[in-house]
Amino acid sequence: MFGLFRKKNSVKDWRGGFSNLSTDMHSHLLPGIDDGSPDLETSLFLIKGLMELGYTKLITTPHIYPDVYPNTRDTILKAYDLLIQEIEKEKLPVIVHPAAEYFIDEMFSERIKNKEPFLTIEGNKVLVEISFVGPPSDLSYVLFDMVTGGYQPVLAHPERYAYYHNQPEIYHTFKDKGCLLQVNMLSLLGYYGKEIRETALYLVKNGLVDLVGTDLHHARHLSALQTTESVNEIQSILKDCQLINSSL
Ligand SMILES: [Fe+2]
Repeated sequence: MFGLFRKKNSVKDWRGGFSNLSTDMHSHLLPGIDDGSPDLETSLFLIKGLMELGYTKLITTPHIYPDVYPNTRDTILKAYDLLIQEIEKEKLPVIVHPAAEYFIDEMFSERIKNKEPFLTIEGNKVLVEISFVGPPSDLSYVLFDMVTGGYQPVLAHPERYAYYHNQPEIYHTFKDKGCLLQVNMLSLLGYYGKEIRETALYLVKNGLVDLVGTDLHHARHLSALQTTESVNEIQSILKDCQLINSSL
């Protein structure tokens, strides 16, 4: 009986836990176009879960990753249209904005030079990711091209690139070059391992984190966030961060 009572309280405690952030700016919620939600039903389930966590705006960022997830502006906007129709049908009180997570490869600077219309986040921000295997040799140049092209680069989950773990000065260099840094909430919980958690904490302690995101792909990610302990731990770690999520 007592156990049941405690469980109910615990469920209630995490609800609305991230309402202070209001906006999640990294997720894979569009149906069937990357390794995130496979269909509309799952998309709606994940969106409702994020709403329960207190988010009122969801910037969803499918991979644009040539050869792996060869999305284009068109494939993303088509999937977005399908989703938005369902959201309107169900009258869900949430704003969903389509953007993308661009993989930086050797062709990326060409896209900038060709003035390809990027799917941006408020303030001409562009979310970018790099290889988990090794750093792109020309990253400094790409960041320079982005900034001079009028974009503000946002590096997705810098803590997850293991080859940077023993050279933390690189994170300061990225910031000096005008790049914002976005840490995954799940990294703070140790979801991806100890070293990634430690690097995420280094970024927090050194005031290098501009944005946090769920990088939500599936229900397991959602479940990991939906506990009182998770919400409290993340909020406690982030309490002194100057995050700009709510301005997006
Ligand atoms: Fe992502």
